[in-house]
Amino acid sequence: MEINLTINQTPVRTSVLPGDSLLKIIRGLGYYGVKHGCESGECGACAVLLDGHPVNACVLLAAQADGHEIRTIESIGQHPEQGWRTTQGLHPIQQAFVDTGAIQCGYCTPAQVLAAKELLERNPSPSEAEVRQALSGVLCRCTGYLKPVQAVLRAAAALRGEQVDPVGSEGFGIPALPDWLPAAPQPGGVEPHAGAEEVLLTRTHIMPRIQVAPETENLQHVGKPERKLDAVKLVQGKPAFTADFDARGLLVAKVLHSSVAHALIKHIDASRARALPGVAAVLTWQDIPRVVYSTAGQSDPIPGPLDSFSLDNKVRFVGDRVAFVAAETDAIADEALRLIEVEYEPLPALFDPGQAMQPDAPLLHDEPEFVNFADSDPSRNLAAQIRIDIGDVEKGFAEADYIFEDDYEVPKVQQAHIEPHVVITYWDEDDRLVIRSSTQVPFHARRILAPVLSLPLKRIRVIKPRIGGGFGGKQEVMIEDVAAHLTIATGRPVIYEYTREEEFIAARSRHPMRIHMKTGVKADGTITANSMYALSDTGAYGCHALTVTGNTGHKAMALYVGDGPYREKPNIRFYADIVYTNHPPAGAYRGYGVPQGYWPIERHMEKIARKLGLNSLEFRLKNALRAGELHPFSTAWSEGREPRPETIETNGLVECTRQGKAAIGWDQKFDNPAWHLVPGKPHLRKGIGAALVMQGTAIPYLDMGAASIKMNDDGSFNLLVGATDLGTGSDTVLAQMAAEVLGVPVDDMITYSSDTDFTPFDKGAYASSTTYISGAAVVKAAQQVAERIRSRAARILNERAADLPVRSDEIRLLDSKAFAPDGRSVTLSEIAHHALHHADQEQIMGVASYMSPVSPPPFAAQFAEVSVDIETGQVVVDKLVMAVDSGVIINPLTASGQIEGGMTQALGYAVCEEMVYNENGAARERDLRDYHIFQANEMPKLETIFIETFEPSHPFGVKAVAEIPMDGVAPAVGNAVLDACGADVDDNPVTPEKVWRALRAVR
Ligand code: FES
Ligand code: FES
Repeated sequence: MEINLTINQTPVRTSVLPGDSLLKIIRGLGYYGVKHGCESGECGACAVLLDGHPVNACVLLAAQADGHEIRTIESIGQHPEQGWRTTQGLHPIQQAFVDTGAIQCGYCTPAQVLAAKELLERNPSPSEAEVRQALSGVLCRCTGYLKPVQAVLRAAAALRGEQVDPVGSEGFGIPALPDWLPAAPQPGGVEPHAGAEEVLLTRTHIMPRIQVAPETENLQHVGKPERKLDAVKLVQGKPAFTADFDARGLLVAKVLHSSVAHALIKHIDASRARALPGVAAVLTWQDIPRVVYSTAGQSDPIPGPLDSFSLDNKVRFVGDRVAFVAAETDAIADEALRLIEVEYEPLPALFDPGQAMQPDAPLLHDEPEFVNFADSDPSRNLAAQIRIDIGDVEKGFAEADYIFEDDYEVPKVQQAHIEPHVVITYWDEDDRLVIRSSTQVPFHARRILAPVLSLPLKRIRVIKPRIGGGFGGKQEVMIEDVAAHLTIATGRPVIYEYTREEEFIAARSRHPMRIHMKTGVKADGTITANSMYALSDTGAYGCHALTVTGNTGHKAMALYVGDGPYREKPNIRFYADIVYTNHPPAGAYRGYGVPQGYWPIERHMEKIARKLGLNSLEFRLKNALRAGELHPFSTAWSEGREPRPETIETNGLVECTRQGKAAIGWDQKFDNPAWHLVPGKPHLRKGIGAALVMQGTAIPYLDMGAASIKMNDDGSFNLLVGATDLGTGSDTVLAQMAAEVLGVPVDDMITYSSDTDFTPFDKGAYASSTTYISGAAVVKAAQQVAERIRSRAARILNERAADLPVRSDEIRLLDSKAFAPDGRSVTLSEIAHHALHHADQEQIMGVASYMSPVSPPPFAAQFAEVSVDIETGQVVVDKLVMAVDSGVIINPLTASGQIEGGMTQALGYAVCEEMVYNENGAARERDLRDYHIFQANEMPKLETIFIETFEPSHPFGVKAVAEIPMDGVAPAVGNAVLDACGADVDDNPVTPEKVWRALRAVR
């Protein structure tokens, strides 16, 4: 049928099928600012304004929009500089999103801006609660909503004509401690829950508090709240993401997923599917080469077993691959999937990792091609095994006055990035295979895929556009082969994009674990020995099996070394079995095994302190690792490689604890019986809890990043990095570091990441390494360029005034000029012209790479305040405070956004997120309705504090930021629940049912 729409004030007549959604039609017309993350009305990424009201275009039939007016992000504002054409520039809402750092990956941003626009047209002076309500229909997995809410409030003020101070003008130093201790609460008083307007404080609070490292106080760009380089593009909804790319003759790929948990494919008949008009190819295991590989996007050699095939004659979980289809349309591809006939020969399925390890258990991997790594053993369903003993653990236990033992459990959870996994493949004009993918690891993907596709590596090009969130889920080479095989089969471009259901049934997740803790403690609180055993369920494949669970010990068990003589020689044991089961595979997820470790450790430490009558924070700090000490695991383990001793140079944990305590009002609340009660609400109890954590920064002697910088005629630079910005802002912080060295504004660094043909190698975005590793490479490259610029500047200045000779090492670069000590200067543009056009012509450029011998840990103190309904077990988290030592903070806006977003994901891990399977191994959670992630109107107060230390191994003193906020929220919340009502929940997440049951046990 034909319909008439008015899109962005332009009349459009188009033909649609009866079942076509408005989303499909509108993106088909080229409005790629309308994104999609679920196509079932849950994520809100597809929002448009229909006659001025926000609607989700995925659940509206195009026919229903006939005759209506539609506004998309493309009509809201545009880049202010369009050559000779003058424009109005960005809309104030867009500008506020850019200024406040409200954009991380930017995938949800167009929908948030439209929701805000509708709100402000209807209500020019909204309260913060009203803003949160307006944004609640648009899920964001990156930001924690704090900055988007601030952006809307600032935009509202600007639209009302009020003065809005520039971001950062409020300053970001930490006031002297006594000045900002919260006022003592009234006896029995309690602050209302989040959602009540008076507790929301974001109107004036944009920058995090920072205790600035003195080494960086006088820098121009490092440490400053620079705007994200890609923010202007993203806030306009430009076609920057993988699926926004259009190719002539693009086929749609779909995958037939297994309906059974464990079976041989006895017979498969795709003939009816192949015969369906519009089907271009159907591939089964019989049609493609059988090449064993690992989907884990890691460096060579991959530290795990090779146990996967693109397609196999055996399925190992509900959701495993059975066949690939490429067709002209989604509907034809879906129909083709239905026509594929599969006869399974069922095999016994294993869902319990303990049973999977039994000698008589059926084997998941009996294929002859299986390749072991380290202690993997398919004959025992072991994807990996770890046995680490540091010191003499049994002696330590013997010397203890008390032994504390307990069992803990952590669940399988989902990364839930709003942009699904998506890839487009095509042959270019040189018959090279181009893979445009939303991947965190473009270079690993190219290396891993070459043998799988029977192509030499040099004939594959991987392009990474903007990524709509990854969180480790896109550190897996999981969908690229599907589209690539189909492009090879058909010769045509192919897009493969996961549905939200596929994200839940077939993508990777966090490893669930059962953990046993045993700790020896002297009466004075000295830890004499600490031991952890982790039984980890890797699911059907061993991707990241060894390394994720290794980090559970390496990063979490390293924090408590003991005190006195035990500090000199800690006694620590970490054993783990990582077991194959017929669950969907686990993999990398932000934190990479470490959150699994801190749930048991920090719950355990809290219980020990309470049982011994010790101050729980003092007990932790007494035993915690300190600067100048050896990382205890550095002599024992390194992800299956040779370990090398590493000293901790910086550790701000004591100050983090002090500042975090003050921010949450610990001394006024903890142990204050009156504070725990809520007047007039006898069913509520308040509680406060803490957790101390550490992470790592990159993988030493392994992770490598590289950068190249080239100078342009006007004194601007192209910065090419292989590093992968998945919304974290890494492109921006890398540009800030280069700009600092070269003395130019940050937007004179034209930054591009990443394309395996054009950008230098980088291992990709994981292990919290980009700012540290790739940043050091950028600084090295910038120093090379700066050297060439100084040399040419000295030559020019000496040509101009031979009687005032200047040496190149005396030249300073600042404000896009090169200055001699006497104040004479030459602009970078003049230097570039001199080099490119005038004398001894050369391209001024630099290329450098960096690999680190160390992995300096960031440290943090995490605090949580909760209210527990003791009748229902409901836990409401009222406030989270995180004080972090991540070294020097290059960009407080992007870094605090990382902390806020990380805490929000961790909050889900603490109270509601988990993936559950039935007795046949089928997933219970298949959409974002059943799998709840926090919305803007459900958030507690969030506060981030940076305690800067200067890490000497990096030119600007940085350590990692991205992963550490995942580690401490869950145990801090668990400890706060214990504090509130005595409910001891050792099985994460702390759901109402578990709290209710624990309370019944307490009573
Ligand atoms: S709500 Fe439409 S794509 Fe998610
Ligand atoms: S910025 Fe919201 S989903 Fe990434």
